Amino acid sequence: MTSTPRSTRLAPFQSVSSSPSPAATPVAFTPRRSNSHPAARLRLRCCCSTGDSAAMVKAIRVHELGGPEALRWEEVEVGEPGDGEIRIRNTAIGVNFIDVYFRKGVYPAPLPFTPGMEAVGVVTAVGPGLTGRKVGDVVAYAGKPMGSYAEEQIIPADVAVPVPPSVNHKTAAAIMLKGMTVHMLVRRIFKVETGHTVLVHAAAGGVGSLLCQWANALGATVIGTVSNEEKASHAHFDGCHHVIIYTKEDVATRVKEITGGKGVNVVYDSVGKDTYKASLECLASRGFLVSFGQSSGSPDPISMGDLAAKSLFLTRPSVMHYTGTRDELLEAAGEVFANVANGVLHTRVKHTYPLSEAARAHADLEARKTSGSVLLIP
Ligand SMILES: NC(=O)c1ccc[n+]([C@@H]2O[C@H](COP(=O)([O-])OP(=O)(O)OC[C@H]3O[C@@H](n4cnc5c(N)ncnc54)[C@H](OP(=O)(O)O)[C@@H]3O)[C@@H](O)[C@H]2O)c1
Repeated sequence: MTSTPRSTRLAPFQSVSSSPSPAATPVAFTPRRSNSHPAARLRLRCCCSTGDSAAMVKAIRVHELGGPEALRWEEVEVGEPGDGEIRIRNTAIGVNFIDVYFRKGVYPAPLPFTPGMEAVGVVTAVGPGLTGRKVGDVVAYAGKPMGSYAEEQIIPADVAVPVPPSVNHKTAAAIMLKGMTVHMLVRRIFKVETGHTVLVHAAAGGVGSLLCQWANALGATVIGTVSNEEKASHAHFDGCHHVIIYTKEDVATRVKEITGGKGVNVVYDSVGKDTYKASLECLASRGFLVSFGQSSGSPDPISMGDLAAKSLFLTRPSVMHYTGTRDELLEAAGEVFANVANGVLHTRVKHTYPLSEAARAHADLEARKTSGSVLLIP
């Protein structure tokens, strides 16, 4: 399905340097940053055997890898935050496809574990000597450590960013990880500009929806692929100039028609196995294939010959590597929250579930029943 290109684009992007966001202000506290924050620092422990009722909270636990039924609702104990840590009571938790990968074992994690890489919450305790954080602060975090599917959790203070008062908790949880991913995609890996044509797979998904909005605001012509009509209308609303319903049309053929045979400058491909061949075909000479996910499975190996055919660029990025320092984290989160405030980014939150029903959220996400962001509410 092809749309008439929108006559008006979204409001122009403003970076935090020209439009400071409260979230972009570096926060002074005793830094204790390391590159990896093992989930063990959450100190969530199943308390069924202890009989201890102190500091008990409910959390989702995975004891065995598997389908959504592997997500169990259990009581755990949360301890006190240690050096450089804070305890937060989660108010909204973002569901991301990466949570499915960990549950299935596509990405390894020691068992048992509490899934979840993103949450917004209120600080309930700060570790000894920590400055720059206080009880009652509203903070968000995305990425490691895993363990956000919990009513309360302990995280390193340096992974948390303040949530601007203008952004409500659900919006922040819907946009933090997905928005920073899009920041990485359109601002750091391939800098989208006016005149570019971009192809976005899963254009109505959580990341895809924000990606289309941001690329549109940066001046690109945006082509999105989706599975059905309802998702097509979401993608149009989110700034896609052309939407291809891949269940009805051949993606590469339609992209050639839309671009007059030239192809696109960049393909943002989070689907992987089912899409990467078409993605390569859709690229213009010297185009970028940004393979940032595998919701349909991992793509087969791409050979040097595949790239040499059009002098293509290939990258397989992770947002964790693009927000690895405190400065990078604050810059990415700051731009995302600034774009919410500017009206460049809006979140579509049609799918919220009680935290206890995380299994249902996973089942719906994997069955492609969701569009926009999916949230769990403790
Ligand atoms: N690299 C990174 O740092 C990073 C960070 C965040 C997210 N990601 C990736 O971005 C992607 C999107 O994540 P999300 O949380 O926003 O999920 P999502 O896009 O909301 O959900 C996945 C969508 O992918 C499409 N899809 C196509 N084939 C599928 C299949 N076999 N199974 C399930 N879905 C399929 C579906 O849309 P249609 O119905 O339209 O086909 C589905 O709605 C994921 O691959 C995730 O791993 C990567």
